[in-house]
Amino acid sequence: MPVASIRSICCIGAGYVGGPTMAVIADRCPDVQVTVVDINQTRIDAWNNSDLSRLPVYEPGLDAVVRRARGRNLHFSTAVEEAIAAADMVFISVNTPTKTKGLGAGQASDLRWVEACARQVTKSATGHTIVVEKSTLPVRTAEAVKAILASAEQSSDGSQVTFAVLSNPEFLAEGTAIQDLESPDRVLIGGEDPDAIDSLVSVYSHWVPQERILRTNLWSSELSKLTANAFLAQRISSINSVAALCEATGADVREVARAIGSDSRIGAKFLQAGPGFGGSCFQKDILNLVYLCRHFGLPDVANYWESVVQLNSWQQHRIARTVVQKLFGTVTGKHVAILGFAFKADTNDTREAPAIRIAKDLLEEGAQLAIHDPKVDSEQIARDLQLPASTEPDVESGLTRAALSGEGTWWPSDDIASAIKGADAVIILTEWNQYRELNWAVLAPLMRQPAWVFDARSVVTPSEIQAAGLNLWRVGEGQP
Ligand code: NAD
Ligand code: UGA
Repeated sequence: MPVASIRSICCIGAGYVGGPTMAVIADRCPDVQVTVVDINQTRIDAWNNSDLSRLPVYEPGLDAVVRRARGRNLHFSTAVEEAIAAADMVFISVNTPTKTKGLGAGQASDLRWVEACARQVTKSATGHTIVVEKSTLPVRTAEAVKAILASAEQSSDGSQVTFAVLSNPEFLAEGTAIQDLESPDRVLIGGEDPDAIDSLVSVYSHWVPQERILRTNLWSSELSKLTANAFLAQRISSINSVAALCEATGADVREVARAIGSDSRIGAKFLQAGPGFGGSCFQKDILNLVYLCRHFGLPDVANYWESVVQLNSWQQHRIARTVVQKLFGTVTGKHVAILGFAFKADTNDTREAPAIRIAKDLLEEGAQLAIHDPKVDSEQIARDLQLPASTEPDVESGLTRAALSGEGTWWPSDDIASAIKGADAVIILTEWNQYRELNWAVLAPLMRQPAWVFDARSVVTPSEIQAAGLNLWRVGEGQP
């Protein structure tokens, strides 16, 4: 096939990746029509919302990009078949969560949505269509995608439907998605058909310098995505393991991170100790890697990577345990304020957020949690905790009743002062900027003494906490 100039793109999946990625492609390639389709009507309606503060994904800068391109060459629709039929290039950007049952449950990726997309493409595509795997997929998934597409090529009734398959994994991080998409460290394109690769390169070349566009074979591309996430997550588990050792020895993990990060071979990024990594992908992608290693007869390699996830769960439980221990061994009936529920700052995403596991552990212990997050709504928190919100109790009588019942409850708090009022402890679990700027001299008198601040994100200034008469635990800070 000659190098096709891409005029029309369809992206299946209007989620955290499909939406922002296609918005940036449309913004940077005004000559290309980009249609993002999804089976979820509510999500598509939200992408079409005239109020740009109500897009389904919160990302700094996304609203401006959507404002420029939407309606011009960026469209959001549920007309999946129509958009595929009109496209020269179809991106598959659907969810690939961990399987919950059957073969590989708990580790392997559930590829049912990817397969459904491939079948949808065989039904609706016309002419030559380049199919691009944007979802994160186990290495060798392209084989299955190609086999499904080949069935359509063979059964085409003379109308000449042909396909090429590329792998083009996405490396954006939530909260910095627009910056990552507009100025990527690299764009990775894996494939066998050089013309198809050139076509996708021509799209990215609108704004990405050539030297940042890497070409590999299909399998290297698929595997590089899993490996990149595994390496990043491994650094977090490594620094969190050292944080625990710092607490036990009188060292300070921030100082250790600075000391080791100054070695240019190690580098300073991704050495922030915290409540463990969250997000929809690190755990799922490592578990997928673990599954693949076992499948390919490499159990020792599988165990090595599995330990990264185990250490992460351990860190989350460890923080909940620390809170209980510091509060005289019990949190039953105690009011604890949780600041931050999103898995990181600048996103409304709570998938695998450390706050979920930590809050669940504390609820199990009978704690009364006031939860504050500037971007996560209370319905989402209720779904994550599998527990409906209670009404905010009266500080005197409400908490006493709850203390007697021993049942853990939670309620959402729109403002930080009311979350903290009457609390025995504050736990900071997301590094939102506003938590860096809290006035502890004003907040401390609202709490029940002796009161604690547990800073799992290193956002407070210790001297301010101490001056306000509060006890402070910081992740990775040993007592000298
Ligand atoms: P998401 O769940 O936010 O979005 C996926 C969307 O696909 C959903 O809206 C769903 O309704 C839609 N969908 C599923 N099957 C469909 C079908 N057959 N037809 C039409 N629409 C369909 O997921 P996401 O976070 O955007 O992730 C997508 C992929 O990108 C995953 O493989 C993930 O691992 C990868 N990834 C995610 C991130 C991230 O930061 N979230 C970063 C890099 C890569
Ligand atoms: C991550 C990768 O950074 C992206 O490159 C990748 O595309 C994406 O996963 C994906 O495949 O989904 P993301 O999960 O959005 O992006 O966010 P990160 O910034 O990587 O943070 C992940 C988690 O690690 C967060 O909970 C964060 O708080 C935590 N983290 C990060 C730390 O605890 N310490 C650090 O030093 C860095």
